[in-house]
Amino acid sequence: MAINRRCSLCIRSRKQSCRTLLLALMGTSLLLFFITQSGMKTPFLHGLQHPTPSLQSPYPSRRIQDYQVDSDDGTAQHAFSNDSNGLSGGVEAGVVDETDLLGAGAERRTAEVLLQKSTPMDTLEQTVQEILKTERQIIRQAMLDYSFHPALNTKRLEDFVPEYGGKPVRNLVITTWRSGSTFIGDVLQSHPATYYHYEPLMDFDIKQVRHGKAAKQALHNLHHLLNCDYSEMEHYLNYGQGHQWLFEHNKRLWQYCKAFPHICWSPRFLTPFCKLFPFQSLKTVRLRLNLTTEFLQDKQLGVQVLLLVRDPRGTMQSRRHRVWCPDNPDCDNPAWLCQDLVSDFHTAKKFQTMFPNSFRFVI
Ligand SMILES: *[C@@H]1O[C@H](CO)[C@@H](O)[C@H](O)[C@H]1NC(C)=O
Ligand SMILES: *[C@@H]1O[C@H](CO)[C@@H](O)[C@H](O)[C@H]1NC(C)=O
Repeated sequence: MAINRRCSLCIRSRKQSCRTLLLALMGTSLLLFFITQSGMKTPFLHGLQHPTPSLQSPYPSRRIQDYQVDSDDGTAQHAFSNDSNGLSGGVEAGVVDETDLLGAGAERRTAEVLLQKSTPMDTLEQTVQEILKTERQIIRQAMLDYSFHPALNTKRLEDFVPEYGGKPVRNLVITTWRSGSTFIGDVLQSHPATYYHYEPLMDFDIKQVRHGKAAKQALHNLHHLLNCDYSEMEHYLNYGQGHQWLFEHNKRLWQYCKAFPHICWSPRFLTPFCKLFPFQSLKTVRLRLNLTTEFLQDKQLGVQVLLLVRDPRGTMQSRRHRVWCPDNPDCDNPAWLCQDLVSDFHTAKKFQTMFPNSFRFVI
């Protein structure tokens, strides 16, 4: 019922992400249909027919009603308690806000309330402190009763939050243009309390980073971002001010940027804000896999790397229709794409034995 409604909404909306989701759902249903028809015994279906406790997900499903908050000044309270502004309310009214689908509805409502409360006299520091205070509550709320994965060895939120000296769960999605990483990135950021570095190498232009000076600069930037350190990031931040989609995809951050544009690109806001989040995701289409070796080797960083691979014929077909791709050989030359895929393949083979617990690929 709910899915039907959402699908018809999807069809009516022209949103790319929505259509992608629909296609993915259709693809999965078709696949399941054929598997069932052919009587193939897959471990997956087998597990569904005979569920055993060991196959159950450690993550309980949560409902919108579960997000109730106990706050001291009522700001976050407002953000959570009024369902008519939330996901279910939106569906009733025939409008689904993408922000809600991606888990940033609380931030959207909070930013509105903070903006109403703000005065022109507020200093940058005051605005930042107000946002940090409320976002801390939102994160704590979103993480109530969260089932931490047993491999993480602790259940205390503080152990994952950088501002308390904790070590966040960091993941890195590596791929190339037009491979589905925007979709994967959105799936990852819909997880509660996730901060999302979308395409942080955008200021490198339509170029692949493979070696040399560009690689050194790229690794410097990624190191800083993975550590929520926005110092020495001037080129990146200046670029972002003219190309707002650098931050627009980070749905939680973007709600505050929209309300308070004057603080959005300041390290004095970005650094402490980023440090509130126990989950940190980063996706890039410009960095080749072998350059992530030093991240994987860094035990203190504890990064998980996912290589996302798409059939290059589909990739090239999709790239052809972008205005920014033609005439950039890293993007429009099939031989260069295939060379990168081959290089990533050899690296992936090596990583499988070197980092069996922190490297994966999907094709
Ligand atoms: C929820 O929002 C609506 C409209 O914005 C408002 O009329 C109503 O009083 C709110 N309810 C609560 C419980 O805050
Ligand atoms: C990574 O692979 C590229 C080829 O794509 C190569 O030129 C470069 O030297 C390699 N870098 C490292 C650190 O292995």
